[in-house]
Amino acid sequence: MKVRKAIIPAAGMGTRFLPATKSMPKEMLPIVDKPVLQFVLEEAAESGIEDVLIITGRGKQAIENHFDYNPDLEHFLRAAGKQDLADLVRDIGDRVRIHYIRQKEQLGLGDAIRLGRDHVGDEPFAVLLGDTIIDPPPGQKPGLLQLLDAFGQVRSSIVAVHRVPREWVSRYGIVEGDPEPFDENLLRLRRLVEKPSPEQAPSDLAIAGRYVFTPEIFDCLETTPRGVGGEIQLTDAMNQLAIEEPVFALAWQARRFDIGNRLEYAKCFVEFALRRPDTGAALRAHIERLLSGGGEGLL
Ligand code: G1P
Repeated sequence: MKVRKAIIPAAGMGTRFLPATKSMPKEMLPIVDKPVLQFVLEEAAESGIEDVLIITGRGKQAIENHFDYNPDLEHFLRAAGKQDLADLVRDIGDRVRIHYIRQKEQLGLGDAIRLGRDHVGDEPFAVLLGDTIIDPPPGQKPGLLQLLDAFGQVRSSIVAVHRVPREWVSRYGIVEGDPEPFDENLLRLRRLVEKPSPEQAPSDLAIAGRYVFTPEIFDCLETTPRGVGGEIQLTDAMNQLAIEEPVFALAWQARRFDIGNRLEYAKCFVEFALRRPDTGAALRAHIERLLSGGGEGLL
């Protein structure tokens, strides 16, 4: 049951990030110098995915341009003696095969995944949300690879979840399930609820933006009515799937940054910049001076 294909939905309007997203897809927001979607694609490639279908929409052409070759830019860089940069921009789209489909109407995440049915065919596949960076603790495998390992064990659809504060549950899909006797981080799901109120949430375990599905999810999506927000919700289709066959959740330790959220984006940018050898030390010194009130004369 090797998982070769992945769908990356990147069709959302990004309204929480206006005005930046008026003409730029939120998935192209940079974390220092790399767009969020490139992090997601690299995670897929490092997890063994060979073929990616990106679901885009109106105004998302920057995504296709980013993963395409750009001969003019490469020529300019090579002529200027900047071979490293020329190689860097050439390699961006070469790590996996990339295909695109446009979602014509904003009918939700479930609808976006449904559009991948013909491309995926009758095999298991992964889903990586294009606005979510997964940051595993140092030394651990990429997020999707951890989930694929767990999929290899249970051989059933599985979703990554993480604990969130109760007041955050209404931002996420929340799951309810029973831990497996052989691994308490694996839960067999009984129920999933999309964006419940804190009173109605069955737990504090939130869907973290990485999934592996058996192709049976497509049948469930065909019959899923519009749910929360008037959209076809992937979570609702998973509920139906859990009635028909086992569906699991993996409670993992990886950090997740929801880039559609302004504060999360700012945190991600700062954390990643602090870790880089070219920006880390100087940024740390700058922040320390800012926080100690010595902001005057900062360079
Ligand atoms: C989507 C899913 C939700 C999940 C979340 C993770 O919501 O519907 O179940 O918890 O992604 O980011 P969205 O962020 O698109 O509103």
